[in-house]
Amino acid sequence: KDYWVIVPAAGIGRRMGADRPKQYLPLLGRPLLSLTLRNILGWSGLAGVVVSLSEQDTYFSHLKEANHPLVHRVIGGAERADSVLSALDFLAQRVSGDTPVLVHDAARPCVSERDIYALLSDNVSSMALLARPACDTIKQSHRVGGETYVEKTVSRENIWLAQTPQRAPLNTLHSCLGKAMEQGVAVTDEASALELFGHSLQLVTGDSDNIKVTHPADIVIAETILRLRYS
Ligand code: C5P
Repeated sequence: KDYWVIVPAAGIGRRMGADRPKQYLPLLGRPLLSLTLRNILGWSGLAGVVVSLSEQDTYFSHLKEANHPLVHRVIGGAERADSVLSALDFLAQRVSGDTPVLVHDAARPCVSERDIYALLSDNVSSMALLARPACDTIKQSHRVGGETYVEKTVSRENIWLAQTPQRAPLNTLHSCLGKAMEQGVAVTDEASALELFGHSLQLVTGDSDNIKVTHPADIVIAETILRLRYS
């Protein structure tokens, strides 16, 4: 069945400390969001992409992909979840409630097609996400007098780091994310909104190449991954 992709791209990228939102920083001479969209537009079975943008966005309309017939835009919100909800509102007016939706960070231009097809495979649950098993030792902390100390070491045996895309049927994601926000729960990904209402999500092991461009060094890493892939 055909699926839609939502790309939240309404953030300001504070941690990057650059002169523009991080989704527009150049990678291999092209804006990050442009590379992410180019990647998505190559996936087979794609019905369309909804990009959530800041109301003040002045960059998007200059992207090569801005006028692609499968690319739609909506105005995002203050938090990532508001931006995703706004795209879900858009889709709920247009496509049936059981349509599979993948939510994918603008900041993850390197996800491989192989991982996308693994996530969309018939053998995988309709609610699922790409993730990596934690490989560092995990410390839980507490603060004393302004300093940070180890509270305890958390076994990493069952710890996974969530990536995107995250997949769910449109109506389920729309209602869970809407209710989570009404209740004022801070959700930093789509899976957590689904978990909150008792849904079981399958973890699909993603590639370590699927990095989230967050800090300046990540730009160089992403460029290297993409150069190797597209050369
Ligand atoms: O800041 P962070 O890296 O967690 O953002 C993840 C994604 O969510 C980015 O693609 C960012 O543009 C998007 N976002 C958004 N609306 C916000 C905040 C973040 O679409 N209000």
